Amino acid sequence: MTTRAYRASLLHSIANPDDVGIEASCEYVEDGLLVVTDGRIEAMGNSNTLLLVLPKGTEIVECPNCLITPGFVDTHIHYPQTGIIASYGEQLLDWLNNYTFPAEGAFAEKDTAAEVADLFLKELLRNGTTTALVFGTVHKQSVEAFFEAAQALNLRMIAGKVLMDRNAPEYLVDTPESGYADSKALIERWHGKGRLHYAITPRFAPTSSPEQLSLAGKLLAEYPDVYMHTHLSENLKEIEWVKSLFPERSGYLDVYDHYKLLGPRSVFAHGVHLCDGECARLGETGSAVAFCPTSNLFLGSGLMNLPRLEQHKVNVGLGTDVGGGTSFSLLQTAQEAYKVMQLQGKNLHPFKAFYLATLGGARALRLDDRIGSFTQGNDADFIILDYHATPLLSYRLKQAKNIEERLFALMMLGDDRTVKETYSMGVKVHQR
Ligand code: GUN
Ligand code: ZN
Repeated sequence: MTTRAYRASLLHSIANPDDVGIEASCEYVEDGLLVVTDGRIEAMGNSNTLLLVLPKGTEIVECPNCLITPGFVDTHIHYPQTGIIASYGEQLLDWLNNYTFPAEGAFAEKDTAAEVADLFLKELLRNGTTTALVFGTVHKQSVEAFFEAAQALNLRMIAGKVLMDRNAPEYLVDTPESGYADSKALIERWHGKGRLHYAITPRFAPTSSPEQLSLAGKLLAEYPDVYMHTHLSENLKEIEWVKSLFPERSGYLDVYDHYKLLGPRSVFAHGVHLCDGECARLGETGSAVAFCPTSNLFLGSGLMNLPRLEQHKVNVGLGTDVGGGTSFSLLQTAQEAYKVMQLQGKNLHPFKAFYLATLGGARALRLDDRIGSFTQGNDADFIILDYHATPLLSYRLKQAKNIEERLFALMMLGDDRTVKETYSMGVKVHQR
């Protein structure tokens, strides 16, 4: 048995601020100790108290001027789009045709996929993200390569092969049958292996035929503990296109509903232009939405209405949506989420943003019994944030009076430079 203790300020979310109030939503310890035994959280608390009861000889890692939090959870990202992040000038449908599809073509080669998967995971860890829900490409081997890379680092990751059998270049389509068979083979091989999980991944309604969506629903019924991951109501032209392709359905969400793709393990990226009825349906089916503010601003998609989704009890997490999103950092993503709320005349308290980036994301992914907080027994996936990461941050934090103000400054000024170290199951997987 190996025990190690990390001494720093500690912060974790224990509830949604909307349920319990801001103050009660987080636990904060100014001079804290995070005790990790064999890759799991053993205890967190005041160092004065815990130091007295730690077994003699326990290694103490001193982290002055640092804040330790759970690793961030990214509820929507595309690893094959790493190389086209920051591509100029288009909105969703043109961006897909001009940049995304050509880039994804290269993932037919497993070696290319493996190289990018490695770079992508390093980038996540550099930014303090320890769990993500990840799109592959249509190629089965893109997901093989991704899971192999994630397994080598013992990361908790969810991924899936994209299903797309129409309205895409011919080098990037599968068929209803091959998509079903490849997904099934990947589930059998990878789902539940170590800390890996599978997500059935129809790209979005326009690129799947009714036959393919129907088989996706069948597969989900056959494997009820795998995830379903897709895009929803991101862009106005996209929504019109869905209506023209599925005129018999009452709206975009109803297409997925009809094919039995809603449920507690279903995660829909964006949901920018939903109506009340759709929000209600997401809530009553236990489905989750990934709020992707950097992408929604970059692609000019619109402003997501977070309070409305939450009124309907929809679980929401933050997503970077790289490469439509412009940063791997959940700190930067929280910053943009704050601005999206400001543009709608609302605020986003730093504890709420922090909840969305950690425990809220874990809840959206139904993993809150394993990650997202420092509950005893959880996986020890945590990060060490450096209050002195940049001269400006350091100077700004001198004027901060409490943890709320410090956390807000970290969100507004922080990025990958702020992440000093990242741990997966108690093992250091990134050091700046
Ligand atoms: N809708 C369908 N495919 C995509 C994608 O790759 N990125 C985003 N942001 N939206 C999509
Ligand atoms: Zn996306």
